[in-house]
Amino acid sequence: MASPRNSRRLFLRYFIGGGVSSVAIAWLWPLKGQARPVNMDDFCLKYPYNSRCENYLPGVAATDEADVPYLATALLAKTTAGDRILAKGLSRESYLVIETGPKIATYAISAVCKHLGCTVNWDKEQNAFICPCHGSQYDDLGRVTQGPARQSLDLKVVVVKNDEVRLVDREPAENIRG
Ligand code: FES
Repeated sequence: MASPRNSRRLFLRYFIGGGVSSVAIAWLWPLKGQARPVNMDDFCLKYPYNSRCENYLPGVAATDEADVPYLATALLAKTTAGDRILAKGLSRESYLVIETGPKIATYAISAVCKHLGCTVNWDKEQNAFICPCHGSQYDDLGRVTQGPARQSLDLKVVVVKNDEVRLVDREPAENIRG
């Protein structure tokens, strides 16, 4: 029969052993967790042409004034680099940006003035967005150049896929304005 001293040792051995095992299991458990499903919204926004995103169209269709979706080829056929094209689709309008190529930029500029929310107009002559309400002005990338607005216009993600132009209500990951 084990002495009280030996019993205490045995108890401590099992107690400590059990604790170490629990910590080890807790440590290893997240490794199994890494197999959790990928968020396809995030993944396909980052890699829109990945084979897993073949049938995935992020965001909403960018449409014209008459709510007709823009087709990239048709839009590029009638625009030139530097143009800013008003597009509906999100809760408020945005401007698509036509870059040299020509091609549609991976970002759009929100048309919502940062002063009190009026819709800004694109003035090609002045190469600027001008707010008709209180005169705020923004440069061609939406950076505020004249108040009363104090902040630059928001940016949205644009994905062109299968000739569709998609607007996503998110800030682009990369710093467009340098
Ligand atoms: S809402 Fe645009 S300047 Fe006031």
